[in-house]
This record gives sequence, structure tokens and C-alpha cells, in this order.
Amino acid sequence: MTLELEAVDQVKQYLEAQANLGTLRFITCGSVDDGKSTLIGRMLFEAQSIFDDQLTYLQLDSKKARTQGDSFDFALLVDGLTSEREQGITIDVAYRFFATDQRKFIVADTPGHEQYTRNMVTGASTADVAVILIDARQGVLTQTRRHSLICSTLGIRKVVIAINKMDLVEYSKEVFDQISEEYKNFADALQFEQTLAIPISALKGDNIIKRSSYMSWFQGPTLLGFLEIVDTNNSSIKYPLRFPVQWVTRSNTDFRGFSGTVEAGTVNVGQKIRVLPSSETATIKEIILFKEHLQSAQHDRAVTLTLDKEIDVSRGDVIVAKDAPCEVSDQFEVKLVWMDRDSGYVGRSFFLKLGASLVNAQITSIKHKININNLENLSAAELQFNELYVITLKTDRPIAFERYHKCPPMGAFILIDRMSNQTVAAGMIEFALRRATNIHGQKLEINKISRRKLNGHNSQVLWFTGLSGSGKSSIANALEKILHSRGIRTYLLDGDNVRHGLNSDLGFTAADRVENIRRAGEVAKLMVDAGVVVLTAFISPFKAERDMVRQLFEEEEFFEIFIDTPLEVAELRDTKGLYKKARRGEIPNFTGIGSPYEPPLTPELHIKTTEKSVEQAVEQIMAFLNFK
Ligand code: ADX
Repeated sequence: MTLELEAVDQVKQYLEAQANLGTLRFITCGSVDDGKSTLIGRMLFEAQSIFDDQLTYLQLDSKKARTQGDSFDFALLVDGLTSEREQGITIDVAYRFFATDQRKFIVADTPGHEQYTRNMVTGASTADVAVILIDARQGVLTQTRRHSLICSTLGIRKVVIAINKMDLVEYSKEVFDQISEEYKNFADALQFEQTLAIPISALKGDNIIKRSSYMSWFQGPTLLGFLEIVDTNNSSIKYPLRFPVQWVTRSNTDFRGFSGTVEAGTVNVGQKIRVLPSSETATIKEIILFKEHLQSAQHDRAVTLTLDKEIDVSRGDVIVAKDAPCEVSDQFEVKLVWMDRDSGYVGRSFFLKLGASLVNAQITSIKHKININNLENLSAAELQFNELYVITLKTDRPIAFERYHKCPPMGAFILIDRMSNQTVAAGMIEFALRRATNIHGQKLEINKISRRKLNGHNSQVLWFTGLSGSGKSSIANALEKILHSRGIRTYLLDGDNVRHGLNSDLGFTAADRVENIRRAGEVAKLMVDAGVVVLTAFISPFKAERDMVRQLFEEEEFFEIFIDTPLEVAELRDTKGLYKKARRGEIPNFTGIGSPYEPPLTPELHIKTTEKSVEQAVEQIMAFLNFK
């Protein structure tokens, strides 16, 4: 064999060996100046996977930026974006790939700034191990605790505490011991399976791959040494089959395939399966990967499956091993990180995306907030930006899922704002609440239709909304008198009255207003079911709750009537003298002054009280209504 061929052969062998290496996914977390980018740059460099041309570029760049004298600035290699470099912070999740002789690595580099928790959650959700960086000069910070908590919440079981910048504390064993001890005390409650502290200097390369001669007192492994051998005991392969259907393909009349990724277990031709939530069963006929037909496909493989018979399968359903199904429910206790600047409240609805399923979900209760610093449970009335909570959720239909700790891809979800499409929270299912499944709706023989027949008219809600003093109650009152005189059964639910009885436990914080409207909506629904025409007069300042109430009703049952009186006019009228008090600071959170009013964008009726008298407003409504 010629030398050249031998070389080619060696390269081939090397590539084959590399292809068979296992992959470790890890995340690095740290505060802004902990040196995360430097560490990742250093690992890439030491793992020898920096290409020559990138190296040249780095040398040039380091010279330009001169952040580290004449030595390389590894951070420059990682902080790819110009804007980041100028700001000196990293602002997005970046995945880097590198390999040593032992393992392939995928590292999620996530930003340290508080407002970027969202990115950290994204990075952590797929990681086997977390490397949490601590600046030896700073010790354990709130951010360190927050990151550890998120890692634990997302099910990461192994953590490396990389105590960095040891060169700046004279490689002191005391500093290292003191920080490791402090971290250990905090992290005990997090139930990590393994936590290992390693003293390093990312900048100088101490204990990254080579043992540091300055820290001979440290007997443990180097950082890469540990990452090369850490056991990730990937249980997903041994788990029973879980295959969420991403989409249904129909290429011709006979072919109906279900595409998706095997999230856990293995799928085999001939295997008996069950489709959840419907629970119908069938047998796997084919497993297709592009044009190839496979006999089986393992965890992580994206394939298309066909079945031996036609059964109803749609996007979001989960194909599971017939005799080892996953759970199905519509009520859950979850842990989540709230990532929206606008707070979340009980009663609010969002889209919930779990795997391939997208459903409506409502926050049903806030159990508690978790104090990031000491892990204590605190009571909470709202979900605030960047904080961690345990809450309950209810979805509008049952979904197939797994507890996050058992099978992360089947238990992790996000909540999405229905209007803006922004992700507002990321969380994990702790367990299902059995309530809904055990309480079945009673089928009653006398129903809405029969009651309407008896009454001789339709039942519906006329939902008045507007500022305090806008004229809601006056107009609703005048309207009710006319309806009553025509023999229509009515009821006027008025904020001021309801707040003396049913809602006497509620005040005027945003959370209380959300609950006020939720209850009013539910009562109105019962009354519509009872065959009554319901008029409501609540400020109902938030669009989200008015929309939520609308969803409780069928088409043609809910009419939103915007009583539009500008703040100046309502304030001038000040029938109850409340605006004056509010201006004097005696009523906090007064709508229009200390608390917002979100006007409806597309109400069924828009009444401008500056242009119409009460009588004219009533006429406008009567002309619009049609009582069948
Ligand atoms: S809502 O915002 O939750 O819909 P609701 O209509 O029930 O309010 O009650 C509003 C009435 O409560 C007002 O008309 C006013 O008489 C009284 N009120 C007392 N405090 C406030 C406040 N901070 N903001 C608005 N209304 C208040």
C-alpha cells in the first residue's frame, strides 16, 4: 500500500470510529461575565476541531479586539454575532458540535442575562448534563441558583460546577472548597443524581483537558475528561414505543402514512400498536425512511409509518406500544417558567403545544411560586416574568402525554399567546389530575332547547363593557325594562351587586378582576342554559377575559356591547365620586387611572355615549337584537 493510500485508509478508519461514538448533549450556564464563551471556545480548541482557516481568522480577530493581550480570545470564536461582540454578551442559544476520541458533543451555549431565561430553557430541555459556571471571585449568585433550578426542573440529573477563573484567585484550594460547599448546601434539595465541582481556568486552559500543574491539590477529573465518561444512561431506548404523529401523509388513495420522530423505544414491522387518545389498535405494516423500507426504527429516528388497517389518526395523536400505553388526561399539575413580561393569571387561556399536539389550555390555579434562592414555596396570585411556579392547567380536550421525569419529550410543553403567537411559558408535566376523568357530565333530559321553547324566546348574553361611569348599568337597566315588558325572561348581572355576594372575596388587582370575570362568565353561562337573556355590566377591562367568556358560548349566544365613553367624560360625570377619590390617590388600581382598560377591537355593538342618549342607545341595541 502506498503511503497516500495508507493515509486515506487511516482517515477513513478515523471517520468510521467517530461515526460510531455516542453523543453527549450538554448545556453551559453562567452569568454574564463567568466566562462561558471562553470556556466553550477553549473546549472546541482543545478538542482540536477548530479548522485552520477559522484559527487564522481568530488570530486576526483577537489582534483587532485585543481583549486578551496577545493570547487568543476564545470568546470571539463563540460569540458569532457582531452585535454580541460589541455588547460583550451572548444573546441567543447556539449549538456547537465537537468530538474527542471518546465522544461526540453537542453543547448548547445559552446566555447569562436574566431576560434570556427563555433561551436557557430551550437549551436545557435537550441536555443530558449541565455545566454551571461560577466565577471564583463571585461565588454562588442568584443566577447560579436560578440556572440550577431550571436545570433540575427540566429533568437534568447530572451537573458539573465549573469554578472558573481560578487563575485570578491564585488557584486557591480554600476558595474552591468554600464555593463547592456553598453550592452543595443549596443544591441538596434539587435532587441531582450527581454534582461534581471542578476548578478550572477557561482562559489559561487549566483542568479543561489537561490537568493543571497549579492545582495539584485537585484529584478529580478534568472537565472534558468527565464529560467523555459521564454515563447518561439514556433510558429513552429501553422505554416503550412513543411516536407522536407530526403529520398525516396521503400520497394516493391507498397510501396513508404517519410521519414523526420515535421519541422513545423502538418501532418494528408487525408490532401491535395503539393510537392515543382514541385507544384504537392496529399493526405496523411499513416503516419508511425516504424511499427505503426499514424493519425497525429506534429512538430519535424520523420515519413514516403505515398501518395494516384504516383507523382514525390525526396530527398530535401518539402511536404507542399496544400493551404499554402512555397517560391521557385533560388536567395537569405542571412546573413552569413564566417568560412573558405580561403577568399570567388564573382563568387565562393559551395554546398549549406538547410534542405535535396543539390544544387550548386554561390556567386553573396557581399552587405556589418557588423562591429561586432558597427553594421555598411562596404563595402567588399571578405569574411573573422569569419566575418559576407550580400551577394547574386544564386543556379543552384530552391529550396523550408522559410525566416529564419519565420521558422528557412527551412531558415538556410551551404555552403560546393566542393573539401574538409569542411563547409565554415553558414547562413540564408533573402529573395528571384525575378529577375530570372521574366526573362525567350528567346528561339531563330537560335542556336549553326545551327551556327556550317554554319561554318562547332564545337565551343569550349581552355583555356590556366600558369604564366605570360609562353608562353600562344605566343602559342595561333601561334595556331590561323594555325586554321585561315584552315578556322576555331576563337577568341583569351587575358588577357592583355581584361584588357584594358571589364575588365579595375579590378586590381590584388584575388577578382578582380576571377571577371576577371568569365567575361572572360561568354564571351567565348557567343562566343562558336556564333559558334566560342575561345582561351583564362589568368593566371587564381585559380583552383576554372577554374573549375567554365568549368561548364559553355558542355562536349567536354572546354579544359584546362596548359602551364607549372617553375617560375625560366619565371622569367629568363621576356619578359615584370615585374618580375624584382615585385622583387623590385614595383608590389604587382604579380603571383608567391606576389600571388599564383595553377597549374591544371588534365588538358586536359599539355605542358612543357622547353621541347618544340612554334611550337612543337602547334603540340601537333593540334594532340589532333578534329574539326568536
Ligand atoms: S371589573 O374590573 O372587575 O370588571 P367591576 O365591574 O366588577 O370591575 O366593578 C367595577 C365597580 O367597582 C366600579 O364601577 C366602581 O363602582 C367600583 N370600584 C371600586 N374600586 C374600583 C377600582 N379600583 N377600579 C374600578 N372600579 C372600582
